Amino acid sequence: MKLSLSFVVTAIIGIYGSNALPFFVYAQELPSQSQWSKIYTDSQAERGDILYQENCASCHGLQLEGTEIAPSLLGNTLTAKWNNRSLDELFDYQQALMPMNSPGGFDRQQNADILAYIFQQSNFPSGKSELPINQDAQRQIMILLTAPSK
Ligand code: HEC
Repeated sequence: MKLSLSFVVTAIIGIYGSNALPFFVYAQELPSQSQWSKIYTDSQAERGDILYQENCASCHGLQLEGTEIAPSLLGNTLTAKWNNRSLDELFDYQQALMPMNSPGGFDRQQNADILAYIFQQSNFPSGKSELPINQDAQRQIMILLTAPSK
């Protein structure tokens, strides 16, 4: 006999009560990717490099090291602040508030390219697919201070 998903869910709720539902949903949606798992390409980071140097370096530093007016965007400094949050939160922040002298000045593709550059400069590994511009896809990627053990 073949069981449909909705039948199984209904059966679980029937047996365990509605308390079972949050756990079920949570277990299904837990993101498995992070900025450690090759979420951007090198050519994307190259596009971001150009945008970064022209529009962000004046405040965040030529090497992303930070200046007196803006924080460093490198590695642990950035990921410690965003640890355990999904990538779309950092993306939305950058999209809405940066560059600080012209907030929202870049489109989603440009912001994704700049983030790819930031991750590349922080030595997170590059891969074969670009950092996504789509929010649902970004929600599947966590920012993690320490690399998950395999
Ligand atoms: C005029 C100066 C200025 C420019 C230009 C600028 N920023 Fe910022 N940025 C800031 C400041 C100041 C903060 C810290 C804001 C705060 O902590 O409230 C910040 C914060 C950030 C953060 C969050 C850092 C953290 O530690 O959470 C990111 C990401 C960021 N900027 C990216 C960018 C990008 C990408 C650009 C270029 C498109 C850019 N910024 C251009 C001043 C600037």
